[in-house]
Amino acid sequence: MPEYHTSPGTRDILAPDSTRWRALVDVFARVVERAGFGQIIPPMFEDLGVFLRLGEATDIVTKEMYDFEDKGGRRVALRPEMTAGVVRAFVQHRPLLPWKAWYAGPNFRYEKAQQGRYRQFDQVGVEVLGVDDPNLDAEVIALAWEFYGQLGLRQVRLVMNSLGEPEDRARYVDALRDYFTRNEDALTPESRQTLLRNPLRVLDSKREHDAAVVAGAPVIADFYSESAAAHFATVLAGLDRLGIPYEVRPSLVRGLDYYRKTTFEFVGAALEASQNAVGGGGRYDGLAEDLGGPATPGIGFALGVDRTLLECDAEGVFDAPSRNVSVFVVDVTGGQEALSITHDLRGAAISCDRAYEGRSMKSQMKAADRSGAGYALIIGGDELANGTVTLRPLAGQAGDDRTQISIPRTDLIPTLKRVLPS
Ligand code: HAM
Repeated sequence: MPEYHTSPGTRDILAPDSTRWRALVDVFARVVERAGFGQIIPPMFEDLGVFLRLGEATDIVTKEMYDFEDKGGRRVALRPEMTAGVVRAFVQHRPLLPWKAWYAGPNFRYEKAQQGRYRQFDQVGVEVLGVDDPNLDAEVIALAWEFYGQLGLRQVRLVMNSLGEPEDRARYVDALRDYFTRNEDALTPESRQTLLRNPLRVLDSKREHDAAVVAGAPVIADFYSESAAAHFATVLAGLDRLGIPYEVRPSLVRGLDYYRKTTFEFVGAALEASQNAVGGGGRYDGLAEDLGGPATPGIGFALGVDRTLLECDAEGVFDAPSRNVSVFVVDVTGGQEALSITHDLRGAAISCDRAYEGRSMKSQMKAADRSGAGYALIIGGDELANGTVTLRPLAGQAGDDRTQISIPRTDLIPTLKRVLPS
């Protein structure tokens, strides 16, 4: 029989990594729910049209979409990100404004798989619809900053830019097209291709050969309208006020077309430059309209769970929380006692495990040690006859006291509740 493995760009997340994963989402939920966000769980696939709004010239739409015709003849796609689906949900349900939603879940992009770049990857993120106030931009960024801080990360840097109003951005794109076309000979063939599709993305080239031309390109700040400049200045003043450090980088253009005004990225120290963004976001004030809804401003961010955990590894923070059971039941009388004791303990919210298949005392004690439990609960012939159990401290137990005690079966749960750390 063939043995199957995960497809390229996908991974199994096993315990204890999966425990750490869940803990990360819990930290995120705590941070954003404290700020009034409610969770949305949108579907993992939608009509392809929802995602085409991400930009006809972006790699995400043209090259990386997992789209297909379903059995009913509908053209659908696995979501490559969550903002479009959340805005589609806003248009569909028209919740009261401002609408503050958070999410966590997998996304799918057919990318070249490598460390930190996967075809299925998870994000946690937020979106706020209905508020144009630049103070909200600073508040939203501060939430991501707080989250990284809660994980213990200290080396994540914030990079800021504004893409101006749509008209500013359009004038800027024209100027960039002119500039890069004039300097086409000095660009790599890849960037010449990008230029045809989207001049903004040439700024994103990490290729050394393009560096000189990119460095001399026009900068967006010279194209801001008065209102866009004022909006951005207020966002930066808000970050200053909150003591959040940032670098303004005019070449930060992001890979999606819906952005207007504020854009930002969080950059980690662990991964290579081509995938060192641990998170990113910005304003997308036209997206609700593009998806058939009323003109509604929006802003949000998404943070890559996979990359954030790689960053945690690199910085040596946010270890997997211990999920060892408290007690390991060793039953050398056949296994029925272990069946009923583990059932009772779990019912009393005491975590426990056991060995199976009538193993020897020695083999069960080995399993008890391996489990990381603080105590073994031993039931042998004597205990069975006396109606007692023997409680033996194991190496996994916090204190030094290694004396074993005999407990009447009827006192088992109250005694355990007393001795186990709460
Ligand atoms: P994005 O920059 O495409 O933005 O993705 C956000 C984060 O998801 C990235 O910074 C990265 O950490 C992670 N990520 C993206 N692609 C991959 C991949 N192939 N493998 C591993 N991690 C990945 C968005 O998705 C926007 N929806 C963010 C947003 C929300 N803007 C406004 N609201």
